[in-house]
Amino acid sequence: MKFLLKGKRMEDYKLIDFQILGDERGSLIAIEQGYDVPFDIKRVYYIFDTKDGVNRGFHAHINLKQICIAVKGSCIFVLDDGYKREEIKLANPNQGLLIEGLIWREMKDFSPNCILVVLASEHYSENDYIRDYNKFKEFVIEKEKTEKY
Ligand code: TYD
Repeated sequence: MKFLLKGKRMEDYKLIDFQILGDERGSLIAIEQGYDVPFDIKRVYYIFDTKDGVNRGFHAHINLKQICIAVKGSCIFVLDDGYKREEIKLANPNQGLLIEGLIWREMKDFSPNCILVVLASEHYSENDYIRDYNKFKEFVIEKEKTEKY
């Protein structure tokens, strides 16, 4: 599965395949700004040791762009564009989920060994978060109005 584009707005999120540079010693992946990442990386964070049954996320971002990579283990992203939901399982270190648009995201079913690395386009700012689902829907409707004109 190279690109998975079932979102209403086609560019809101997609899966990206990274090239594995392997040799007899094992595997290596290089991720380079401008080539593999369509934004300047200002922040990298990772989520690990997620406790059994824990779900995370439950927010959208106003401006932030991210690439999420399960470099070890797996987890499921629930992606919601305000109209419909899609689940994408991240389970390969050579696959990244690029989220660029106004998308509500939830993460669940973390394997105990999951290390989820996130490359982000902005420094951490709580002001960029939409943590209320109804408010998120209002943002989606507002965005559509501005896109029409
Ligand atoms: P949060 O974004 O709510 O995590 P998730 O979406 O994975 O459930 O962040 C959890 C906490 O960590 C919250 O108190 C904010 C803090 N935080 C930072 O300080 N810097 C960061 O870059 C991130 C992502 C979170």
